[in-house]
Amino acid sequence: MDDRTAATTATVSAAQQAAYRGGDKLRTRYPTIDYLRRAARERLPHFAFEYCDGGAGSDGGIRRNWAGLDAVEIVPRYGVMPALPPVEVELFGRKYAAPIGIPPMGGPGIVWPGADAYMAQAAQRARIPYTLGTVGGITIEQAAKLAPDVLWFQLYRMARNDHWLGFELMRRCEAAGVHVFVLTVDVPVRTVRPREVVVGLGGSKFSTGPRMLYDMLSSPGWLMSLWQHGQPRFANIKSYAGENASTNEVINFARSEIGGAFTWDEIARFRDKWKKPLVLKGIMHPADAERAISLGIDGIWVSNHGGRQIEALPAPIDVLPAVAAQVGSRATVLFDSGVRSGLDVVRAIALGAHATFAGKAFLWGLGALGADGPKHVIDLMIDEARASLGQIGAKTPADARSVVIRHPGALTFPRV
Ligand SMILES: Cc1cc2nc3c(=O)[nH]c(=O)nc-3n(C[C@H](O)[C@H](O)[C@H](O)COP(=O)(O)O)c2cc1C
Repeated sequence: MDDRTAATTATVSAAQQAAYRGGDKLRTRYPTIDYLRRAARERLPHFAFEYCDGGAGSDGGIRRNWAGLDAVEIVPRYGVMPALPPVEVELFGRKYAAPIGIPPMGGPGIVWPGADAYMAQAAQRARIPYTLGTVGGITIEQAAKLAPDVLWFQLYRMARNDHWLGFELMRRCEAAGVHVFVLTVDVPVRTVRPREVVVGLGGSKFSTGPRMLYDMLSSPGWLMSLWQHGQPRFANIKSYAGENASTNEVINFARSEIGGAFTWDEIARFRDKWKKPLVLKGIMHPADAERAISLGIDGIWVSNHGGRQIEALPAPIDVLPAVAAQVGSRATVLFDSGVRSGLDVVRAIALGAHATFAGKAFLWGLGALGADGPKHVIDLMIDEARASLGQIGAKTPADARSVVIRHPGALTFPRV
């Protein structure tokens, strides 16, 4: 896959310029997220990079997500912005430092052992949303300690015994003080990511073959983190797989529990039980957004799972305006898939999102810099977002909605 030329994505803010002058090593070595991706490719064990970087099929969905964002042009207005604008946002009644968050990711510990804890800590310090996934590497309770003010939780469908496990995890979220509960709707079937398969991560059994061992030994930083944090595991599900269950037994348990996409009736039951903000993740059609709102859903998360499920989907940026128009002021619109810079954040905000999330960017950051990665990704994104807003003459993120935009890929839908 081609790297986008870093220089085209970077809009350098005053803070960044000051950092360069002050010799900030991270900013001079990794001035954009694309540099982190390159470093991650060099430093991570091969299987770890392939796990985080690969998509469905031949990565066509990932390329389309990037191209869709790249194609969005914004016409600036001058004479209105004397200084860098603030980027704080309010989402579901809470204030966050920027319209940028960490989405749910399963198995990030494969990419960097301890990844979830590092991302949760960095999000709490920066005051941006951190979403723990059903198959994340720390428990809900651990995450609540690390990120008490910014914790969201994502659930996959687990329908066995009348959704017993899903409701049990929801109960734990309630007790732990999770603020936002997210139901992922865009994984109706399990699909194949070839790059994962060929490195030995696609099957139902995990075994460390000679190639994998060789890769691990070639990445001492990764090995050290493994030594500190132990083997990645399905922390939230593990305790239900039976006492002393082996890694493969836990994997099999998770696979047998998780499956299918939530139906509208099931979503209504979760809405009934969760009294705080409820979000549907993976919405791509205005009609589905409308249906969600009719059930009292608070947030519509426009996403194609970062191109990891099926490569024929449009780039979410291309359906975002239609979904946002349908939603209006009735719910919060969230966006992800392809975000690799603060400029991408501003593009999505300008096209109707209230906040954006970046998945692979955080994993590349971890791969390049280990524990320091998530903070650097957040710093870059926030600085770039502020600079981009300032550059187009928007005084706040909300102000970016009134700019003139050329959006060649925008899809139109029949009226709902
Ligand atoms: C390694 C990896 C694992 C993921 N696991 C989950 C998951 O467990 N649940 C979920 O809803 N989305 C999952 N996603 C999708 C992300 O939440 C997000 O939608 C996607 O990464 C956004 O696209 P981007 O990577 O281009 O930023 C995963 C993404 C990655 C890269």
